[in-house]
Amino acid sequence: MQTVGKLMKVFVTRRIPPEGMKILSAGGVCEVSLWDSDEPVQRADLLKGVQGAHGLLCLLSDRIDAEVLDAAGPNLKVISTLSVGFDHMALDEIKKRGIRVGYTPDVLTDATAELTVALLLSTARRLPEGVEEVKNGGWSSWKPLWLCGYGLSHSTVGVIGLGRIGMAIARRLMPFGVNRLLYSGRTAKAYAAEVNGEFVPLDTLLSESDFIVVSCSLTPETQGLCDKAFFSKMKKTAVFVNSSRGTVVNQEDLYEALKSGQIAAAGLDVTTPEPLPTNHPLLTLKNCVVLPHIGSATHSTRGIMGALSAQNLLAGLQGTAMPSELTF
Ligand code: NDP
Ligand code: DGY
Repeated sequence: MQTVGKLMKVFVTRRIPPEGMKILSAGGVCEVSLWDSDEPVQRADLLKGVQGAHGLLCLLSDRIDAEVLDAAGPNLKVISTLSVGFDHMALDEIKKRGIRVGYTPDVLTDATAELTVALLLSTARRLPEGVEEVKNGGWSSWKPLWLCGYGLSHSTVGVIGLGRIGMAIARRLMPFGVNRLLYSGRTAKAYAAEVNGEFVPLDTLLSESDFIVVSCSLTPETQGLCDKAFFSKMKKTAVFVNSSRGTVVNQEDLYEALKSGQIAAAGLDVTTPEPLPTNHPLLTLKNCVVLPHIGSATHSTRGIMGALSAQNLLAGLQGTAMPSELTF
């Protein structure tokens, strides 16, 4: 708890939306030390900035491991991440030290689902290629066989990880005339009935889906899940979309699958690494659409995420209930 007359120290690893900074400064609870940049804090500066901190507000690009926790020292009581994903944090080490963790589920679900649907449609209907052809003079006439893609009508969609975001994606896709909605994961979900979701083994999902959307969390089980064997089970006409985490996909295997025509196209909002180097082989492929991890990037969503992460942090500092505490 706060000692009388002494503010608790908080380190914030990036410029965050003003909605969040306002809450942190107004509370009279903490003094904020901010990495005042839009670019990630260097490791050495993170280790320095966190020293003696009671609270840490971090991003998904900050690796929070034993080294960071040791650098922070025994004062650290709360870590609040401006993300729903928490794969960047060593939860076992955090737990050992009795540190609480806040995150931002739900508030970014709609924005991320919307972006995933946009990416799926852009990839399937070849929008970036079409835009490029308009600009480079490749558009010579209306041509019956030109720039044809794949439509959702009467299709089978497979969602890997029908969680908050996966379900929001499914809800948005069904009105496009999707015929069957398959999903895979660890457990069947009662709420899947709303989209007539069929819980199937992964292999069934892979061989029967026209569109495959990955929206699971990154865990040791899902890391590298989408590899050569995975792509080899997909239809040659299928479109693959990933808006979860880059390392769920083996990118060398994806490149081969796209290049050889094993699958039709891929849309990625997340890659390994981020940013993807501009000379990466995937960027040479017309049938691969890559976005810079913008799933939750709407003005309002980022503002709400900023506010929620600040509220989580203050609650952690004060020992009260967080609006969104991660249980682990
Ligand atoms: P949820 O926890 O609601 O959903 C995660 C889903 O992953 C669960 O349904 C779970 O299914 C599934 N899952 C876990 N393990 C496996 C597995 N082995 N195989 C298949 N599915 C599995 O999280 P959210 O929907 O809120 O977020 C999901 C992820 O999306 C985040 O962790 C983050 O990585 C990513 N994300 C990306 C964004 C972007 O900008 N691109 C924005 C926001 C989030 P089950 O319960 O059956 O295990
Ligand atoms: C998350 O929250 O995990 C996303 O990747 C960014 O919003």
